Amino acid sequence: MGNHRLLLLLLLLLAVVGSDHGRVLAADEFTYNGFGGANLTLDGMATVAPNGLLVLSNGTNQMAGHAFHPTPIRLRGGAGGGAVQSFSAAFVFAIVSNFTVLSDNGMAFVVAPSTRLSTFNAGQYLGILNVTDNGNADNNIFAVELDTMLNPEFQDMNSNHIGVDVNSMKSVQNHSAGYYDDATGVFTNLSLISRQPMQVWVDYDGATTVLNVTMAPLDVPKPKKPLISAPVNLSSVVTDTAYVGFSAATGVIYTRHYVLGWSFSVNGAAPPLDTSRLPALPRFGPKPRSKVLEIVLPIATATFVLALVIAAFLFVRRRVRYAEVREDWEVEFGPHRFSYKELYQATKGFKNKQLLGTGGFGRVYKGVLAKSNLEIAVKRVSHDSKQGMKEFIAEVVSIGHLRHRNLVQLLGYCRRKGELLLVYDYMSNGSLDKYLYDKTKPVLDWGQRFQIIKGVASGLLYLHEDWEQVVIHRDIKASNVLLDGEMNGRLGDFGLARLYDHGVDPQTTHVVGTMGYLAPELVRTGKATPVTDVFAFGVFVLEVTCGRRPLGCIAPDDQNVLLDWVQEHERRHAALDTVDARLCGKYDADEARLALKLGLMCAHPLPDARPTMRQVTQYLDGDAPMPEVAPTFVSYTMLALMQNDGFDSFAMSFPSTVTTTASPMSADVSAVSGLSGGR
Ligand SMILES: *[C@@H]1O[C@H](CO)[C@@H](O)[C@H](O)[C@H]1NC(C)=O
Ligand SMILES: *[C@@H]1O[C@H](CO)[C@@H](O)[C@H](O)[C@H]1NC(C)=O
Ligand SMILES: *[C@@H]1O[C@H](CO)[C@@H](O)[C@H](O)[C@H]1NC(C)=O
Ligand SMILES: *[C@@H]1O[C@H](CO)[C@@H](O)[C@H](O)[C@H]1NC(C)=O
Ligand SMILES: *[C@@H]1O[C@H](CO)[C@@H](O)[C@H](O)[C@H]1NC(C)=O
Ligand SMILES: *[C@@H]1O[C@H](CO)[C@@H](O)[C@H](O)[C@H]1NC(C)=O
Ligand SMILES: *[C@@H]1O[C@H](CO)[C@@H](O)[C@H](O)[C@H]1NC(C)=O
Ligand SMILES: *[C@@H]1O[C@H](CO)[C@@H](O)[C@H](O)[C@H]1NC(C)=O
Repeated sequence: MGNHRLLLLLLLLLAVVGSDHGRVLAADEFTYNGFGGANLTLDGMATVAPNGLLVLSNGTNQMAGHAFHPTPIRLRGGAGGGAVQSFSAAFVFAIVSNFTVLSDNGMAFVVAPSTRLSTFNAGQYLGILNVTDNGNADNNIFAVELDTMLNPEFQDMNSNHIGVDVNSMKSVQNHSAGYYDDATGVFTNLSLISRQPMQVWVDYDGATTVLNVTMAPLDVPKPKKPLISAPVNLSSVVTDTAYVGFSAATGVIYTRHYVLGWSFSVNGAAPPLDTSRLPALPRFGPKPRSKVLEIVLPIATATFVLALVIAAFLFVRRRVRYAEVREDWEVEFGPHRFSYKELYQATKGFKNKQLLGTGGFGRVYKGVLAKSNLEIAVKRVSHDSKQGMKEFIAEVVSIGHLRHRNLVQLLGYCRRKGELLLVYDYMSNGSLDKYLYDKTKPVLDWGQRFQIIKGVASGLLYLHEDWEQVVIHRDIKASNVLLDGEMNGRLGDFGLARLYDHGVDPQTTHVVGTMGYLAPELVRTGKATPVTDVFAFGVFVLEVTCGRRPLGCIAPDDQNVLLDWVQEHERRHAALDTVDARLCGKYDADEARLALKLGLMCAHPLPDARPTMRQVTQYLDGDAPMPEVAPTFVSYTMLALMQNDGFDSFAMSFPSTVTTTASPMSADVSAVSGLSGGR
């Protein structure tokens, strides 16, 4: 008895010293919050991942993996005498299968006499037993299985259960995986193969020989009611010292068994695991998306796609809106080329508000160039044919080089499909015809009119003779004469008619110009020459002087043609009666007489009878006297008709009845012909 007491005292002393140092009892109690640096005894497939995760199986078929605490635990002895003492284990595990509803075999918490367990044909034996030793009492093995497969041979209840195994894979007690809620007492199913870490507690009471197994999700504290509470007398099972650890086995389905953390204690509750320190599971399958992403991503994607569509739409619209036609040969004209975008923006998108007028060739818009702040007029000429475009552009560009104070400066051009845009200097006072015929505009006094006539003559002379090429205007009329800020007349639209001449079948030549301004021979042949310009200029001079349109505005109208009307007055020496009544007689009679005579001379039906523009300017400036024109008794219109009906020879053979043109005139005419022939 005394010896016994002494031994007890000694043991107590040891226990006290041990608890002081902690290390002595280390064999009976340990905690692994992750297995980094742990000296586990591993075999089979088992490994410890670099992050401390214990990998019992890595998916290889029909193999096992074991992991044991390196030193055996003394389970018998102490206060319980020879009986197995109370012990407690807690661990966090996770089973990840390739499939969410299927897994193979399973894993178990094992108490065994040795770390060397059978790995032969592990499969349904979970790497613990084999077909020969299953059920043998001398196995001395106790296990808590996490079985994910229904093996009828072991009378498994289902493929998702916890079982208490003693020496046999046929459980002594089992329960579907899950837990009883502390508050409600309701059982909640848990799926072992949910890929989620879950915690299991194994508690053995050595005094009552009751084994409790409890499980819960990681974020749920240990439930009060255990899943299994089985009366198991481990004293007749386990050896004095035993190894504790885990075993897992895989089957056909690729499955991984993990243990994240583990604590164990003899005669006490297993130390709680610090879930925050547990290693992370490897990511499986597609990266899980956060709720925020789940909501934001579709919206962001939709927005992005929408933005893309809008951008594409805007881009296409922009491309269409600003589309141009550009050809290789235009490169040399580069500096004169405007981009359509530039013009579009300058004219505020060709708004009607910007419309200056609609001419014979198209609409004219006012604009301001963004870059230079220069005021411009943009003429949109519709032109479908590509024919002659190159020649025309070449001419436009060469015209762009024309600089004369009585010409509207052409700044450049732009081409679009079926359309040509010409860019001119903006003329602030608009076109002359408004001042002549619009009652709301102030009346131009004689001085201004004469100045305009002289200006236009000077501009036309420049086109005909002073420029390196002969440029025929083709459409001289009051509405094509624009007035700048100082009321100077400037010729606009020159050369444009040519665009419609080019490439046209000579058989179907259509005359371009304006009725009333067309020289008879132009109507007949369709061929524009400098002298046909002179004819139109003559009509223009009369128009400005008389303030009447060339056709159909003379009342009472037996004389409908301005030309004939003036000619008739001239024959009666009453030419001044034709001067615009709106001037109220306030004009220089000599100048007016000169203008009327000049107009008649220029608009003579016979081309040879017309002066050149150089002569015209000389007459206007008083540098040369006007030759006297003998009055014709046939009206101009009659003469023209005769000429057009093949009376040319007749008319020509009686020059004296028509004109007193002196010989220098003939020389000039031939010079003109020479010029036009040279083009
Ligand atoms: C599984 O573990 C075994 C043993 O360590 C190893 O040979 C094998 O390559 C591993 N397989 C995979 C897929 O990691
Ligand atoms: C690990 O455990 C084995 C077996 O108990 C032992 O031989 C070895 O010395 C231990 N190693 C370390 C580093 O503790
Ligand atoms: C399971 O997944 C692994 C990789 O995650 C893959 O290599 C294997 O082929 C899969 N097996 C099956 C049966 O789907
Ligand atoms: C079963 O396991 C025991 C103990 O590990 C071993 O002795 C026996 O040979 C195994 N049987 C087979 C068929 O592998
Ligand atoms: C497993 O549990 C079910 C239901 O509780 C029971 O019917 C069955 O007998 C149990 N099996 C074993 C081997 O204990
Ligand atoms: C729990 O799982 C078992 C087996 O799959 C099933 O029979 C039972 O109805 C489930 N209980 C609940 C509450 O889902
Ligand atoms: C096992 O569970 C029962 C209740 O089912 C409880 O009374 C007992 O104390 C538990 N034993 C241990 C060791 O937790
Ligand atoms: C447990 O088994 C041991 C040995 O087999 C026996 O001595 C003990 O009385 C048993 N305890 C209970 C509570 O049955």
